[in-house]
Amino acid sequence: MLTTIIYRSHICKNVPFESVMDMVAAAKLRNDQADVTGILLFNGTHFLQLIEGPEESVLKIYQHICQDERHCNIVELLCDHGPTRRFGKTGMELFDLREHDSERVLQTVLDKGTSKYQLIYNDRALKFLRTFVSATEKENYFEIPPADSWVFIPDEGESHTNLAAPDNTADCCFAFQPMVDPFAQEIISTEALLRTPGGGSPEIYFAGLTGNELYQADLNSKKVAFAMASALKLGKHSVSVNLLPMALVMIPDAVNFLLREIQINGLVPEQVTIEFTECEVISRIDEFTDAVRQLKSAGINVAIDHFGAGFGGLLLLAQFQPDRIKINRELIKDVHKSGPRQAIIQAIIKCCASLEIAISAVGVEKPEEWMWLESAGITHFQGNLFASARLSGVAAVAWPERKADL
Ligand SMILES: Cc1cc2nc3c(=O)[nH]c(=O)nc-3n(C[C@H](O)[C@H](O)[C@H](O)COP(=O)(O)O)c2cc1C
Repeated sequence: MLTTIIYRSHICKNVPFESVMDMVAAAKLRNDQADVTGILLFNGTHFLQLIEGPEESVLKIYQHICQDERHCNIVELLCDHGPTRRFGKTGMELFDLREHDSERVLQTVLDKGTSKYQLIYNDRALKFLRTFVSATEKENYFEIPPADSWVFIPDEGESHTNLAAPDNTADCCFAFQPMVDPFAQEIISTEALLRTPGGGSPEIYFAGLTGNELYQADLNSKKVAFAMASALKLGKHSVSVNLLPMALVMIPDAVNFLLREIQINGLVPEQVTIEFTECEVISRIDEFTDAVRQLKSAGINVAIDHFGAGFGGLLLLAQFQPDRIKINRELIKDVHKSGPRQAIIQAIIKCCASLEIAISAVGVEKPEEWMWLESAGITHFQGNLFASARLSGVAAVAWPERKADL
């Protein structure tokens, strides 16, 4: 199947341009043999390359390219399939944009086209070339240092006292995971994650429950969450708990139940955030937003969890605006390498900035994911990179330190 990949990257420091010229000469031969075409644009700092040909060959060459140490910050922008080649019989061609008149260079590239149809601007692949030449997206080309330029040092001092003896009479338990601002070295809040007494997942806890039983069990579990959060002595930190959105609608007096448990456990509503999970359609939106109004007027904050997955998407945000959204792990995963994920997250950031909604990224596991998200403007993170969830306690946060500063 005819496959096209487009990526962009940064040339690494200390790589002379001559070595790029040598690479192009060698690549031309390899591409010719593999029936692959590579159109490479270079502006002195960044590369943008279009590679097209049979799927297997394109993917194999792209894999090699991704491991090449002459360039870094490789971001895949497009992976698409089409009926005909845009650039046949070219092997590999380098366009050094510094040597071309910017008005003419795109036409020079298009003149290399061999598609039997005229190469036209409404082709997505060619639009990427045009945007690169016009440099209108340049402010989004974040330069991220290598993953090993940071070390993550656990702050053992603060963690060991943070253990809450679980209530042996309760049918559930909680694991706690902090949300942090790594540069400020500050814990923003701690999330209480539902577990079985033995540490099993919420799915196991809820197994076999349906309808109102499920909502009642979810709501009741918050009693245990607040008691454990109180025992953890989180001080002024806020605590977040998840709640199925329909529990607010289906269980009469759910809001008062929550407020009572918050008060009994010595917490104040202002330090509590209720996170609504994405896994349920909010089918009775009017009743739901009414219950949210009650939570808000009592001082409780609300958040949308797993934003971008399932039903926790854009329509939900149009219907009600929480204090915070937590971006789903599936969007965070390898964001530093993915053009589509970067574009979506930048749009979410812009949207939330317009609505003054706080953002956090959850499930952050790699230093590169965190660095890209910081560069994009996100400052609050949750994930195993900083601290994993710990049953009946809070793990020490591993704060990042730049190797050069150690
Ligand atoms: C910006 C850039 C573009 C490249 N484009 C190609 C290409 O189109 N085809 C190719 O075979 N190698 C290309 N290379 C070189 C490959 O990364 C790699 O060196 C080559 O496939 C040999 O792989 P190997 O050293 O693992 O054997 C490119 C390298 C860079 C830095």
